[in-house]
Amino acid sequence: MKMGILFALAWALFLIPVRQAQELKPNVTELTTENIDFAMNLYRRISSHHDNNIFFSPLCMSTSLAMLSTGARGTTRAEIIRGLNLARLERDGQPELIPELFQQLRENYTQGGELQLNQATGLFVHRTFQVEKTFSEQAKTFFKAEAFNVDFTNQQASKTTINEYIKSRTGDKVTEVVSDIDPMTQLMLINTIFFQGKWELPFNPSNTEDDRFYVDKYNIVQVPMMFREDKYYQGSDDFLNARVLRLPYHGDAAMLILLPNKDVDYTTIDDEINAKRFLGWVNQLKLTKLEVQMPKFKMEQSYPMHKILPHLGIARVFNNMANLSGLSTEQDLKVSEVLHKAVIEVDEKGTTAAAATVTGITGYSLPTRFIINRPFFFFIYQETTNSLLFMGRVIDPTKM
Ligand SMILES: *[C@@H]1O[C@H](CO)[C@@H](O)[C@H](O)[C@H]1NC(C)=O
Ligand SMILES: *[C@@H]1O[C@H](CO)[C@@H](O)[C@H](O)[C@H]1NC(C)=O
Ligand SMILES: *[C@@H]1O[C@H](CO)[C@@H](O)[C@H](O)[C@H]1NC(C)=O
Repeated sequence: MKMGILFALAWALFLIPVRQAQELKPNVTELTTENIDFAMNLYRRISSHHDNNIFFSPLCMSTSLAMLSTGARGTTRAEIIRGLNLARLERDGQPELIPELFQQLRENYTQGGELQLNQATGLFVHRTFQVEKTFSEQAKTFFKAEAFNVDFTNQQASKTTINEYIKSRTGDKVTEVVSDIDPMTQLMLINTIFFQGKWELPFNPSNTEDDRFYVDKYNIVQVPMMFREDKYYQGSDDFLNARVLRLPYHGDAAMLILLPNKDVDYTTIDDEINAKRFLGWVNQLKLTKLEVQMPKFKMEQSYPMHKILPHLGIARVFNNMANLSGLSTEQDLKVSEVLHKAVIEVDEKGTTAAAATVTGITGYSLPTRFIINRPFFFFIYQETTNSLLFMGRVIDPTKM
């Protein structure tokens, strides 16, 4: 008898913690942290190919790939979830958990309506593949994405349809996403995003002057340099030999600048950035009187992600072993292309309300300077969730 009770007790003790762990649902904060690590992995893959400027929206990428995963099955799906760094958030038998988190996240950043993100995600499927109704409904509900059937054999017509869709969804800011259509295309996933934030502390255009930007030891370019003296949150990362500056936008977002110290090779930073480090910067910022000098720039970058994602382990969805049976029950469907295009304009503008704020600088101490006149990294994130909306690197601000 005693043995029996002891045994039952041991079982009960063992079972309770396990059951609790299984029932603990992941939350939006965990999603945004995993998304940051995915962003850094993707960044490293893009940067390993060249030394140019980089600009992309990791949020846009993870959202559209998570959307695609709802139509994928078996290993095809598992690869996408793992590549997105989301395997930890999976719970057996609950395939809607991750889609729901993305939905919550979107509702969170669109809540106030102040953050202007012109985003479009479209899935274009060749007309011989009938898109499952469940799939297109979920794409719309959870990811605000749309699936369409097009006839890729009619190259001109399908190109026009796709470009017009993207253009209309991004307030005419993103045009000509597709230039050539391969008539053999089966499925094209396109996501685009345009961002022009309004500074909470705008720069006065009459202070903008051409100045030097040191691309590297041998190349110096002239750029329009904006200027403002104010109180800013700044910090430093002594391990990376870099300084950090927060430039707040109107509407719960900010740009975080990571400026490697003079003579620090920016490529050494590539391997060291991850979610933990990013959150470390955000959490240690201190309000300081600063003179900020920052180049005005504009960037328009597009990436053929179908060539980059296989390096992150997302490969099967692009080859003949793809299982997209949740997207279409027609046999042999695979993804032909994933195109991502992100556009940003960084200029002096802020909101009119904020423009009227002139912070009085008093006291005798001279403000510290934060002069962004050499290659730097920037991160645009939503502040309440720490969701990384954009990530970029500026090597030469005179290049688009
Ligand atoms: C989210 O979950 C993590 C881990 O379970 C927990 O530490 C954190 O406090 C949660 N955050 C919120 C906002 O609920
Ligand atoms: C795709 O996955 C589904 C669900 O796991 C399975 O029933 C089906 O046989 C798979 N199709 C192929 C072609 O492997
Ligand atoms: C957004 O997320 C933050 C942090 O997790 C939370 O405090 C806030 O209540 C959320 N807002 C909405 C509208 O969900």
